[in-house]
Amino acid sequence: MVSISNVSKTFGSNPILRGISMDIEKGDVVVVLGPSGSGKTTLLRCISFLEHADEGELEIGGKTYNLRTANKRQMLEVRKQIAFVFQNHNLFQNKTALENVTEGLIIGRKMSKKDAEIKALEALSEVGLKGRSLSFTAVRRTAIACGDCKSSCFST
Ligand SMILES: Nc1ncnc2c1ncn2[C@@H]1O[C@H](COP(=O)(O)OP(=O)(O)OP(=O)(O)O)[C@@H](O)[C@H]1O
Ligand SMILES: [Mg+2]
Repeated sequence: MVSISNVSKTFGSNPILRGISMDIEKGDVVVVLGPSGSGKTTLLRCISFLEHADEGELEIGGKTYNLRTANKRQMLEVRKQIAFVFQNHNLFQNKTALENVTEGLIIGRKMSKKDAEIKALEALSEVGLKGRSLSFTAVRRTAIACGDCKSSCFST
């Protein structure tokens, strides 16, 4: 279960998130809907510590983290359980789909190249791609495969 409680964030004098809470059960697929600028991305950035929340808590993997005061070790613990598919994908255009997916597993997760490739090929198969150069239409599916290699995935 992933639980978000009372997340607030103000940019300057502009309150964007005001006490946002939600519970996500294992296996749930949840959509956060709202007009452009309403704070959807800001919420996802706050729960993965890409943005510093003014207050709020995140429960994930059986532990609770304070989004304002978490230390670096706690941030890393959380980030290892969260995958992001960014609006602009953030993929390496000069690498194949396979290399894009294995990069994070080898560098971030310290996985061997061989194990990373096995895991990446499984994820790429699920989205109908296998280790080929990135075409425009392959980009989004590759980004999703990167997310599939982690346990929780958020698409912004
Ligand atoms: N670093 C920042 N500094 C100042 N204001 C910011 C910052 N990041 C986001 N904002 C503002 O916060 C508000 C929410 O932005 P956010 O990107 O979270 O919206 P969104 O709901 O994801 O929009 P979209 O549907 O267009 O993706 C916007 O008014 C945006 O300008
Ligand atoms: Mg957004």
